[in-house]
Amino acid sequence: MAIISSKKQPQDPNGQPKKQSQESVKASVDEELLQPEAAIDEQGKQEESIRPQRFADYIGQKDLKDVLDIAIKAAKSRGEVLDHLLLYGPPGLGKTTMAMILASEMGVNYKITSAPALERPRDIVGLLVNLKPGDILFVDEIHRLSRMTEEILYPAMEDYRLDITIGKGSSARIRSLPLAKFTLVGATTRVGALTSPLRDRFGLVQKLRFYEVDELSKIVLRTAQLLQTPITEDGATEIARRSRGTPRIANRLLKRVRDYAEVKTSGEINESVAAEALQLFQVDPCGLDWTDRKMLSVIIEQFNGGPVGLETIAAATGEDTQTIEEVYEPYLMQIGYLSRTPRGRTATTAAYKHLGFKPPNEQLSLL
Ligand SMILES: Nc1ncnc2c1ncn2[C@@H]1O[C@H](COP(=O)(O)OP(=O)(O)OP(=O)(O)O)[C@@H](O)[C@H]1O
Ligand SMILES: [Mg+2]
Repeated sequence: MAIISSKKQPQDPNGQPKKQSQESVKASVDEELLQPEAAIDEQGKQEESIRPQRFADYIGQKDLKDVLDIAIKAAKSRGEVLDHLLLYGPPGLGKTTMAMILASEMGVNYKITSAPALERPRDIVGLLVNLKPGDILFVDEIHRLSRMTEEILYPAMEDYRLDITIGKGSSARIRSLPLAKFTLVGATTRVGALTSPLRDRFGLVQKLRFYEVDELSKIVLRTAQLLQTPITEDGATEIARRSRGTPRIANRLLKRVRDYAEVKTSGEINESVAAEALQLFQVDPCGLDWTDRKMLSVIIEQFNGGPVGLETIAAATGEDTQTIEEVYEPYLMQIGYLSRTPRGRTATTAAYKHLGFKPPNEQLSLL
């Protein structure tokens, strides 16, 4: 069987301090607030209390929910385990949450791990042999699996079998152990980095997309209720608009606005309180952060609106190309500020306006 080894893991995008250069746009924003990855203090108990537990509480992602709802019902009616599922999409959109919901909807247990924690073969073997029938094994960052671990997973996923090599050299023999039928749920922000033998073993491959403002607004209202924070619908919408299509950011902004409302006002979050607070925290009205703004302003100021190659944008912002492609571009395209052409990236008229530049003339906007 052809096995393609995993690609080298990308640089941690957070590890790199972003430089604030002279020509940077005027309003810089609080970058940490707008990072889609979980902060250390967002991995604790309180976070778990706001994480949706059931399908009904999982807002948005209609296509994903429809597909999974059918898969769950079919698996339950046949008394079978759920197909292996690969979830991919930018950070903070609800991959881990969905894996947990699947387990509770199926009435099974789940184990959560992450590919970097499965470096040695015995790590994955230990997890697999302890799975009970129907259990869900959730592997985060699955594109980072080591080659050995992947090879162990192939027969485990396909035939619920563990192939172990006993002995060394010429006396080595392969023993097969049966495993309980389980479901592997893999999550990744980089589906393209998965090896094809691994990707092909997932029966369901589903993409998570950015959330619309009205969906994020519902998420904010739900979280506010759980946190017992009074909030108006307009207040929730104001927070939602600045959340980069990402529930994790929406919940984080809500907590900051709640602090502000408690200290500065009667405690209720309405539109003006949310706007004031988020302005104070320098959160851009569209949720853009320094890198987004820098990307767009480079395209506009130095390249007449584009097209500009990815490498050039990466060099100008100090981000690696992968992070630009996976985190920044998808959101900018979603809100219609950036378009991708075969010749490179171009800034749209909406981006010009948002950054306070004069929109390009008719001819340029047709490009
Ligand atoms: N559909 C949703 N409805 C309500 N809240 C959600 C939804 N999706 C995510 N959230 C909230 O956003 C937070 C982040 O979600 P989650 O941890 O599932 O993201 P993720 O995709 O696994 O991110 P990462 O790629 O960083 O692991 C959760 O704590 C949860 O409260
Ligand atoms: Mg996760």
